[in-house]
Amino acid sequence: MPTTDTDRVIIFDTTLRDGEQSPGCSMNLNEKLEMAHALKELGVDVIEAGFPIASPGDFESVQAIAREVHGPIICALARCNATDIDRAALAVKDAPRPRVHVFLATSAIHREFKLKMSREDILKRTIEGVTRARDQIADVEFSPEDASRTELDFLTEVVERAIEAGATTLNIPDTVGYAVPSHYADIIRHLKKTVRGIDKCIISVHCHNDLGLAVGNSLAALREGARQVECTINGIGERAGNTALEEVVMALHTRQDFYGLTTGINTRFLYPCSRKLSHVTGMQVQRNKAIVGQNAFAHEAGIHQDGMLKNPNTYEIMRPEAVGISRTELVLGKHSGRHALRQKINDLGYHLSEEQLNRVFDAFKILADRKKDIYDADIEALAENQLHNISQKTWTLHAFTCNAGTGTMPSAAVALWRQDGEIMKDAAIGDGPIDAVFNVIDRITGITVKVCDYRVRAVTVGTDAQGEAFVEAEFEGKKLTARAVSTDIVEASAMAYLEIINRAAARQVRDRLKPTDNIPQESVPMA
Ligand code: KIV
Ligand code: ZN
Repeated sequence: MPTTDTDRVIIFDTTLRDGEQSPGCSMNLNEKLEMAHALKELGVDVIEAGFPIASPGDFESVQAIAREVHGPIICALARCNATDIDRAALAVKDAPRPRVHVFLATSAIHREFKLKMSREDILKRTIEGVTRARDQIADVEFSPEDASRTELDFLTEVVERAIEAGATTLNIPDTVGYAVPSHYADIIRHLKKTVRGIDKCIISVHCHNDLGLAVGNSLAALREGARQVECTINGIGERAGNTALEEVVMALHTRQDFYGLTTGINTRFLYPCSRKLSHVTGMQVQRNKAIVGQNAFAHEAGIHQDGMLKNPNTYEIMRPEAVGISRTELVLGKHSGRHALRQKINDLGYHLSEEQLNRVFDAFKILADRKKDIYDADIEALAENQLHNISQKTWTLHAFTCNAGTGTMPSAAVALWRQDGEIMKDAAIGDGPIDAVFNVIDRITGITVKVCDYRVRAVTVGTDAQGEAFVEAEFEGKKLTARAVSTDIVEASAMAYLEIINRAAARQVRDRLKPTDNIPQESVPMA
């Protein structure tokens, strides 16, 4: 059961649940496990690992995280019905510190149009749901969904019933990002003053960013006594996202003088964790994103640079090192050895096996021949490449050439190694050189996927920068993603696409998981 000193804020990370359910952020089991380990290293108190009823895949990832990631509380989400709750409890039961998070909408609009339930129905269902969860797991969180638009008297009643039924954490979601800081603070103050038994529980806040106020609202609630913040890395989440973990943590850290609150976060891992999530999902943060954006610590104006040189405090309220961004980005050169590379990779927050490190070292040597300056981001890209291109490779890129230009028909010729050692060659045309390369790969492998997203970005600066290609494709109704880096963007694209094909090939020979449909809340009674 959670306890907190009056000045310690519980960081509840929902990157793998609320974050993961937003478009473009889906992760497979290995990626979720990798993120969960990174979150543990970051020092989060609670990991909301998923929504087990949503699909067998979700269940499996929550269960794997519960079994493997020890330290933080591992939490599973459930709607307020028997089937969801039992499934969530089962998924987390092997965690040393399991939690079930039950939610039920309480606002008039949700009651009337979504649930078709009366106030009395909601109260009854709350008591039944929390009791059922408590019968299985000692640590139960309850969320009245859309709390910020719920009538205060009714919200008070629901929260009181949830506490009586055994909820240990009461979360007050601003589900649609409607609250503003003083309004949200008023709600928390009111609940703290009026709800019987609330002093025995942790008040939690969960804000969405539709008005750009998620962090502001969360901080306002902390001032009123909330002691758990639900947040996500890079602020990913439904629509405009959730409270950004790195922002709320650094606000508390930087303005300790004002809030007088602490967290258990090791802030040095904020940037590596943010980068890892971007690599895993392919969703980059905007350049001017607070704390982890590329410009967050860049000083461009001459007057600022001058001040910085005289005293960094003139224009900098946080040290980049405090969030894990190194000032001296230029790191390794052609003559750097394996030991220096290992040290750098560890500093960047990666833990590679000896075999993976050897492969990164080989790639690093090739890169050092092609590229003059090697930056942290280059090393990160090589490490990520190693961590994510993990499929059993049926096909490997042997050689390719492509032709494109104004007035010519884009074409490509590709040679691939097949697992049995045979080299297969073919050629094709396309809408452009990349399309032509993808078409040849389809022809050789006999596997066709539907590309849904394709992006290339420069990992660092300069015309010799490595390009990172990200491909998302659909195969037999499942989304597959892959990325690869190279100083040649066509090569990076071909490698990423081939990774997708390899995963599709592996999938063909594996039993497929069949997702279950979501069960509407009202159709599953609390039996
Ligand atoms: O935004 C929301 O209301 C939620 C709940 C499930 C807590 O994500
Ligand atoms: Zn939410």
